[in-house]
Amino acid sequence: MCGIIGITSNKPVTSAIINSLRKLEYRGYDSAGVATLSNGFINEIKSEGRVDNLEKNLLNKKIEGTIGIGHVRWATHGIPNTVNAHPHSSETVSVVHNGIIENSTTLKKYLIKKGHKFKSQTDTEVIVHLITELLKENDLKNSILKMLKQLHGSFALGIIFKDQPDLIVGARRGSPLAVGYGPNENYLGSDSYALKSMTNKISYLNDGEFCIVKKNEVNFFDETGNKINKKVLELSSNEQDYEKGDFKHFMAKEIEEQPITLKNCIKEYIDSINNEISIHNFPWKNKEISSVVLIGCGTAYHSCMMAKYWFEELTTLDVSIDIASEFRYRNNRFKKDSLYIFVSQSGETADTYAALDLCNKNNMKTASIVNVIESSIARDSNFVLPIHCGPEIGVASTKAFLGQMLVLYLLILKLGIIRGDLKKVNYVEKIKDLKKLPKFVEDTLLTENKIQSVSSTFIKAKGSMFLGRGFSYPIALEGALKLKELLYVHAEGYPAGEMKHGPLALIEDGMPVVVLAPRDNYYKKTISNMQEVIARGAKVLLITNKSNDDVVSENIWQKIEVENTNEDLLPFLLTVPLQKLAYYSALKKGYDIDKPRNLAKSVTVE
Ligand code: G6P
Repeated sequence: MCGIIGITSNKPVTSAIINSLRKLEYRGYDSAGVATLSNGFINEIKSEGRVDNLEKNLLNKKIEGTIGIGHVRWATHGIPNTVNAHPHSSETVSVVHNGIIENSTTLKKYLIKKGHKFKSQTDTEVIVHLITELLKENDLKNSILKMLKQLHGSFALGIIFKDQPDLIVGARRGSPLAVGYGPNENYLGSDSYALKSMTNKISYLNDGEFCIVKKNEVNFFDETGNKINKKVLELSSNEQDYEKGDFKHFMAKEIEEQPITLKNCIKEYIDSINNEISIHNFPWKNKEISSVVLIGCGTAYHSCMMAKYWFEELTTLDVSIDIASEFRYRNNRFKKDSLYIFVSQSGETADTYAALDLCNKNNMKTASIVNVIESSIARDSNFVLPIHCGPEIGVASTKAFLGQMLVLYLLILKLGIIRGDLKKVNYVEKIKDLKKLPKFVEDTLLTENKIQSVSSTFIKAKGSMFLGRGFSYPIALEGALKLKELLYVHAEGYPAGEMKHGPLALIEDGMPVVVLAPRDNYYKKTISNMQEVIARGAKVLLITNKSNDDVVSENIWQKIEVENTNEDLLPFLLTVPLQKLAYYSALKKGYDIDKPRNLAKSVTVE
């Protein structure tokens, strides 16, 4: 959420900043800006909307310099327009900011009294004037220290100074920030993705730390101003993972990649010869854990919900789930024998991180399931299980969802066998089935044509519902979320059995309703609920699995059959047509699929 880049070099930096901003656009895309220093002056250019607009503006008004900062914004304070776009500058400093300054109103009043004039509606401008004020009486380092003490809230900052032709200050509290090292130049960035085209040598700031980046030297400090040493990590990356290739959108690529990403993940965790799940260095003994709490946001929360069903089915552990933004402020009963599992694709979601931090501060056992292994959530958990999906760029999560479910399922099977809750023969059988999952997902991807044709009805409808019971209920929620994110119409996921307690009143003639009814324990019940909505005029798209028995129900509008596999794995297959439904609906509308309106991929504000 909001992307920051800073470069100090011995060559002009504007075009490298623009390139990095393009990479960062998935974090926010309502405005963009760049500021550089040249001949002792700060020059800034900002534009509403995408980086493309900024680049067009730069054609008319060139700004150059060998040091600069750039930003893509996801608005928090102040509408997304040019004035509110970052960087924000005074004559002395220019600032880019990700996060929220909670005491900005108080600080603004104080600074106005001191004679400072504000141009924007943002909280960020407070930082500009505060540091300008502090620099009148303090040296640079002390000004930074005093400024950081006065700012409340969460933030990542990049600051350049009129009088410092080779110096960028970076500071982190709550929002991620990385430093990259290049030949005769160094960088500051919101994440390694922004820096990858320039370097694979990266260090991460921890909470409370700040850094001074010069082109040939970087120094790191803790919150009291003491110098600290940082590890330099060498990231390996396959550049192709970051390109769309022949696909029109990242989302299309990421949906199609799922058989491969699942296969890769299975390879990492399953010893195929012995049919054994290998989870190395799990830090706790069996008797140390009697319950599990799963925490996440958005799609990641849906994978937690899926895991709850599997945990209850396959182990005797007590399990509860929580939305991170709720968990972090509730009066939780922390239990020593609970394992707290944090699920996050990015590993940077502010609420999920705060929930983890709370558990760490209470000395709880913490584990994380992440895609980005160098992320804050991964670094600060006691134990990490990566999902091995490769970068996910489309804002609406797809392959990461299947990856999260897969790793959770593997963990559940492993805990089930270790605890003696699962019989060895069942365990081995389930592993054998898992190995076939990528192929089943591949076959399910072929439901393409049907989905394309039904999407025409969804794009015309006022709204839609997604119904499921048991294992299919979390998938119904995820299907509805995908459609909301991409098609901008109301879509509601609901437990099919709960419809008669209210939502049935929403059903009207011609309303499209997706019913997830695989042939599992809930099948007959769900089919009855389906008949209830059909009787009230709904156009039902039934998604079930292939079987020799025909579905006993009349007036089903459309039917999609996914492959047949063991009940535990059907949720993976049911998800695929729902991802495609959202994709094709948005495609027909001509919406920006990889960057849906108002959203961002990495939500680093609460
Ligand atoms: C944002 C994304 C969602 C994602 C959620 C949680 O809202 O748009 O796709 O599910 O954040 O993100 P995380 O990185 O923690 O999984």
